[in-house]
Amino acid sequence: MEISNAIKYVGVNDHNIDLFEGQYIVENGMAYNSYVILDEKTAVLDTVDIGFTGEWLSNLKTVLGSRQPDYLIVQHMEPDHSASIASFTEAYPDTIIVASATAFNMMKQFFGADLSSERLVIKDGDTLSLGSHTLTFLAAPMVHWPEVMVTYDILDKVLFSADAFGKFGALDVDEDWACEARRYYIGIVGKYGMQVQNLLKKVSALDIQTICPLHGPILKENLGYYLNLYQIWSSYSVETEGVFIAYTSVYGHTKKAAELLADKLRTMGCPKVSIADLAREDMAECVEDAFRYGNIVLATTTYNAGIFPFMREFINHLTERNFQNRTVAFIENGSWAPTAIKTMKALLEPCKNLTYIENEVHIKSALNEESLAQLEELAAELGKEWCS
Ligand code: FEO
Repeated sequence: MEISNAIKYVGVNDHNIDLFEGQYIVENGMAYNSYVILDEKTAVLDTVDIGFTGEWLSNLKTVLGSRQPDYLIVQHMEPDHSASIASFTEAYPDTIIVASATAFNMMKQFFGADLSSERLVIKDGDTLSLGSHTLTFLAAPMVHWPEVMVTYDILDKVLFSADAFGKFGALDVDEDWACEARRYYIGIVGKYGMQVQNLLKKVSALDIQTICPLHGPILKENLGYYLNLYQIWSSYSVETEGVFIAYTSVYGHTKKAAELLADKLRTMGCPKVSIADLAREDMAECVEDAFRYGNIVLATTTYNAGIFPFMREFINHLTERNFQNRTVAFIENGSWAPTAIKTMKALLEPCKNLTYIENEVHIKSALNEESLAQLEELAAELGKEWCS
């Protein structure tokens, strides 16, 4: 694959993976992108996951021919991109490794030794000339690890964006970008909105025609669309008007209340009502939806004097990712000591700028006249607030 006359793609597709980063379901696999810039000097940008070292070295060989790469630029030390550095240095012992000081420290931690005496330590704003291509390195700490650098090629106006603008999914599968890029972003970098905002500010000064991330497709058209979504996600703004109802249910009674509320909101004309059983659906997809919509309903049971484990896990995912700026409504179910709403509110305490809906639904075992009336009132309030 050719990015420009000088820039070639040498990445790989992974369809063997079970869980990305040990936790994310990736039904359509994963791509580990890597690039080569051919100029008077040659530079390789990042390596690939350990399972694909051989294939990647072979891709490199095809592009490089008999040339020896002058530089290996390591933008990010997470092993999905760095695990093949040791094999690379064995194949190309004279190549200079280019990375931040923090990245070199991590290299020693991961590989137990300094891999190459040939090294160039870079910091924010440094440049490297390859001949006609001059690369500028921009520090992007916590997007997604502290050592991350992104790289801008002034001649071809290409931003090598490390994990930023990546997505789940291999490159040989055709799928919607936003859906899997959002799940990837919220899951992996969602906590670091401020740091992503800092990076967006830095790159806004650049004339970018192509974005080459470390995962997902190379972005060449309509870059404003992707930049705008990153602006929304990193500022914790609402992307889609609508409601997300997240529930857990042991014997179906809480589920019934959640579904009844969803039906009522749809009837009232809510633009979008999404509903999920947290125990049965992909947790990362549920977390993504919580950040996507402006309004969320949490419905769960009391369990071991707390709340049902999947709701606790869900709320933990939200708080650790700086969930904020949303409106929240609650439904609880408890047969003898209902405390779920109190527990959920306590867990949400660290979140900034949450507005709680006054009407709450308190179910005792199963919906009855009283709790149905509460549900009716909640639906009326939400309908007025969220669906008009
Ligand atoms: Fe794709 Fe943070 O590694």
